[in-house]
Amino acid sequence: METKIRKADRKESFQEAAKILQQGGLVAFPTETVYGLGGNALDGEVAKKIYEAKGRPADNPLIVHIAKKRELLALAEYVPERAWILAEHFWPGPLTMILPKSKKVPYGTTGGLETVAVRMPNHPVALRLIQESGIYIAAPSANISGRPSATMAEHVIEDFQGRIDMVLDGGMVNMGIESTVLDLTEEVPVILRPGCVTKEMLEEVLGEIVTDQAILPENKDKPLQPKAPGMKYKHYAPKAELTIVTGEAEKVQQTINQRITDNLDKGLKTGVITTVENQEMYVGGVVRCIGSREEEGTIARGLYKVLREFDHLQVDCIYAESFIEDSMGEAIMNRLQKAAGYAILQV
Ligand code: TXA
Ligand code: MG
Repeated sequence: METKIRKADRKESFQEAAKILQQGGLVAFPTETVYGLGGNALDGEVAKKIYEAKGRPADNPLIVHIAKKRELLALAEYVPERAWILAEHFWPGPLTMILPKSKKVPYGTTGGLETVAVRMPNHPVALRLIQESGIYIAAPSANISGRPSATMAEHVIEDFQGRIDMVLDGGMVNMGIESTVLDLTEEVPVILRPGCVTKEMLEEVLGEIVTDQAILPENKDKPLQPKAPGMKYKHYAPKAELTIVTGEAEKVQQTINQRITDNLDKGLKTGVITTVENQEMYVGGVVRCIGSREEEGTIARGLYKVLREFDHLQVDCIYAESFIEDSMGEAIMNRLQKAAGYAILQV
């Protein structure tokens, strides 16, 4: 299959993409969080194609993207008042709501579940594509299952060239980390996946919110099943072994520098994930800066790109500094810990 690559800066690209979606094809497109791999959400056969292209287990449901808040009514069997309140506050934006699915939504899209995940993305290209095609777009993150999510069209092409119909190139995404997934089918809403809409932000609007216990790092060895099927798989993994080093900044730097030196003696290449503030502190490693600690948003934005870059640089192992798990830091550390398979070195 030839994968068409089109810039999202002209109307012909949208017309072409819309047609592909209407005919049951797959188009990757940018959202404000990460690129999505889109297809018709109301066609169960299309969901199969998405799973196949991603190499994703078919029990892992897809998020349905809409362009207008009221379109929730078509996808959910029942929309509780608090869903409208959340939509008013956070849509368009990086919040995905889980609601009971309507009959229209095929089990192919929901991975066999009675619930559906819905989100209205805050990106002009995504919104225009949904509107132009007149289709509710089911889209998981546009990466091969287990690889870091794509924050640039180049990442999508790297993973899907020849496997999907089109990539709509809208440049680099704004946020870099996938949406917050919130389950509204429970009495108290449950965060199934942390994202840029934080627990505090949700609590301010709705009152009590809990986090799915199964996704907390302290429970990683307990036999708990995450309620978002996607959270149980090893994810975002770079090819080299990644270890997070946590503790006092100076000790972290000493430890990483020691590892770099030991590895050099063995002829091994060490990657380092650091920030603007600390990048001068490392000697002899392949040092990559993901953003500034002063602005957490820049770190979220840079994370997946750097993980992918390390695959190309063929480093033998990677050490990452850690980040404070407040507001957005929680989502950042959630992704980093998963990428590291929870390998954390406390110094
Ligand atoms: O930011 C995002 O959410 C991106 C962009 C493209 O919108 N999409 C994304 O999709 O990250 P994906 O498929 O990579 O992750 C969706 C997550 C998975 O962990 C999945 O298991 C969970 O949402 N999910 C989807 N539907 C669900 C449902 N009905 N019940 C529980 N979890 C669900
Ligand atoms: Mg994903």
